[in-house]
Parts: sequence; C-alpha cells; structure tokens
Amino acid sequence: MSAGPLAQVTTLPSVAPAGGSVWLPPRAEGAAAEIDAVFYFIYWVSVFFFVLIVVLMVYFVIRYRRRVESEQPRGGAAHNTRLEITWSVIPLILVVVMFYLGFRGYMDLVNPPAGAMDIQVLAQKWSWNFTYPNGHDDAELHLPAGRNARLVLTSNDVIHSFYVPAFRKKCDAVPGRYTYLWLRDLKPGEYLALCAEYCGTGHSDMLTRVQVHDPADFQKWLSEASDPFRTRSYAEVGRLLVARRCASCHSVDGRAGVGPTFKGLYGHPVRLQDGSTVTADENYLRDSILYPARQVVAGYGPVMPTFRGQLRDREITAIIEYLKELADHANR
Ligand code: CUA
Repeated sequence: MSAGPLAQVTTLPSVAPAGGSVWLPPRAEGAAAEIDAVFYFIYWVSVFFFVLIVVLMVYFVIRYRRRVESEQPRGGAAHNTRLEITWSVIPLILVVVMFYLGFRGYMDLVNPPAGAMDIQVLAQKWSWNFTYPNGHDDAELHLPAGRNARLVLTSNDVIHSFYVPAFRKKCDAVPGRYTYLWLRDLKPGEYLALCAEYCGTGHSDMLTRVQVHDPADFQKWLSEASDPFRTRSYAEVGRLLVARRCASCHSVDGRAGVGPTFKGLYGHPVRLQDGSTVTADENYLRDSILYPARQVVAGYGPVMPTFRGQLRDREITAIIEYLKELADHANR
C-alpha cells in the first residue's frame, strides 16, 4: 500500500503557522479578535500589577530591612484614607471593565443567530464524528465560509471538549445532553481541532482537521463525500474509513496501539481473552465492529465503542475488503 493518500488523510496542519502568537495560530473566526482583545487586556493588566508589586516588595525589603541586631520594631503607620480609596477604586474599575467585556463576549458566544447551518458533533473515545444536514457522516469538520454554522455537540461516553485554537472557541461534549457552539465569518483554510478535556488513554490522539471552504467548494465537497463509492473501489473506501474511524486505536503497519494492529489480521488466528482462538474472517471482523465487547483480543482492554448505527453495511464490507488487502501485503 502506498503511504501517500493515507498520510494525507491523517496529516494535520501545522499548529502555529506564521502570523499567530507564540501560543495561538492566526485568527480565523469572527469573534476571535474580540476574544483575543479581552484576553490580552486581562493579561497586560496582570503583568503590570505583577511587576509593580514584585518591584515594590523587593525595594521595601531592602529599604526597610533591620540594619542593627538590637533594633526593635517601632509602631506601624496609621491608616491613610487617600491611599486606601485609591487601591480600592482602581481595581474595582478594572474588574468591572473585565466583567463587562467578558459578559458581552459570553452572551455573543451562547446565543446563535437564527438560520445557521446545524452540524451534529458526536464525541467518543477517541474520535470525532460530524453529521451534515444531508445525513453525511465525516471524521473531519468541513464548513462553508460566508455562512453561520452551529455545532450541536454530544458524547457517547465521557466528557470531551471540542477546541479549535484558530477560532478561539471551545465547547464541552457531554453525554446525555446537547451543547452548542456557533461560528461566523470563517476564513477559508485548514485548521486543527483537538480534545481539550482529558478523556483517557487516547486523549492526545483525539485530533481532527477543520476545513473552511469557499461556498461553492463546500457543496461540491459535500456531494462527493456523501457517496464515496461512486468513484472508488470497496478497498479504497475501506482505507479512507479506517484512516478516519479506526486509526487512532488500530495501526495498519504493525505498530501496537490501544487496539491490535490491522496488518496481517485477516485470515489469521486471533487469541481471545477467554483463552479461545478464532480465525479473523468476515464474520469475526463484522462482529468485532458491531459488538466489540463479545470477543476481546487477549492483552487488550474492552474499551472499543460499538459502531452499530454509525457504519452502514456497505461501509463495513468496504473495511473488511481493505483489511484483506492489508493481509495480502503482509504475506508477501
Ligand atoms: Cu476526548 Cu480528551
């Protein structure tokens, strides 16, 4: 198998391209400038007072140190009304300004406009799944520029957090409820999305790509992605599906992962946790995708979620065809 197209699917854009700060990539969403402005306002106020306090503290320690061993403390200063009002009123004004800016930004974040395009986001250990209005499922987030989008997030297992640094926006995906994140004035390009809530072994691999298209390109992408079988063989579709849905836990090159590798799996005996051995044929692979807890491979934990209802029969067949190909290559 050539590494090219698979690498293309799994390669993520550089995390801090030119134009961003040391911490964050360039802004690519409408609210990002205001979010950055509030952040840097609080940041520079904090830096100013940190420096002021530390410098005064060091100066006072030196200036008022005890100079002779026998020196006794004298009575302290009485209070100074003008000074006390100053150090109360200035911080009060600063925190009220911070609250106002933060509250205004928060109200904008939690109130999506009407008519935004809804995209369903399902988080699970350890991948993201995006469902578009036409029912198409994808492991990457694709968005049209020039249109508001509303992400409706939920989780299959534990709390995850969807975070796109270039958008400066983050939202928890919580099991048993929906949460919302809305996006506007998106800049076309490729960005990195990640999980920002520790969710287990594969947390740091829970990355995906966000692509913002020009509006016409988005429609073209959606119609092509909705029917991958039109232009590809089963094994090719299987390769894409494995890269998107399975690769964070199962390698295709023999490397150990959260789950066993797919290389050389098909047609070979598999030792299970209960001590029995089965042959990895079509039925075993299909059962493992739909009912992963039934036949757990020896040496691995029962951590795989079911893909029942998430992969269509044709897609499961495509994955199995691809695994056959991986076995053929492994035998040569
Ligand atoms: Cu999902 Cu961390």
